[in-house]
Amino acid sequence: MREPTLYERLGGESRIRALVTTIFDKHTRNAAVSNRYVNSDRDDVIRIVTEFFCSGTGGPQVYTGRDMLTTHRGMNVSEEEFVAVLDDIVEALNEHGIGQREQEEVLMISWSLKPEIVRQ
Ligand code: HEM
Repeated sequence: MREPTLYERLGGESRIRALVTTIFDKHTRNAAVSNRYVNSDRDDVIRIVTEFFCSGTGGPQVYTGRDMLTTHRGMNVSEEEFVAVLDDIVEALNEHGIGQREQEEVLMISWSLKPEIVRQ
């Protein structure tokens, strides 16, 4: 028997979409990054980030968005903004009752993307 994937341990697509929704809504209230999302289409960003999250954690979804370097190139995202986004992610993981091990895995994946996102 195989170990359940992170995707499965997070509760699959509907739970991940709820988590991504909380994260997006926190970004729009987080003074460190809110200005980045003023022109965003909320539903669209939630849809594409959910797809990214699902496929990146072992779900069957195919990510149809742009890669992280292409997406964030030209934004000149700072270290502070990156940490602010991680703070929102941790808060959301806690609010959604995600276990310690899964929280650490999500954070490690997020952290590993930093070179493709910060100062690009
Ligand atoms: C681990 C951290 C992050 C991940 C996994 C991530 C992931 C993504 C993904 C999947 C998209 C959608 C790509 C597409 O439209 O094709 C996106 C868009 C975007 N990201 Fe990030 N991102 C991260 C950090 C950040 C940071 C730190 C900022 C700046 C504060 C940022 C700003 C944006 C903006 C402004 C968009 C475009 C939203 C829109 O289309 O309206 N991201 N990100």
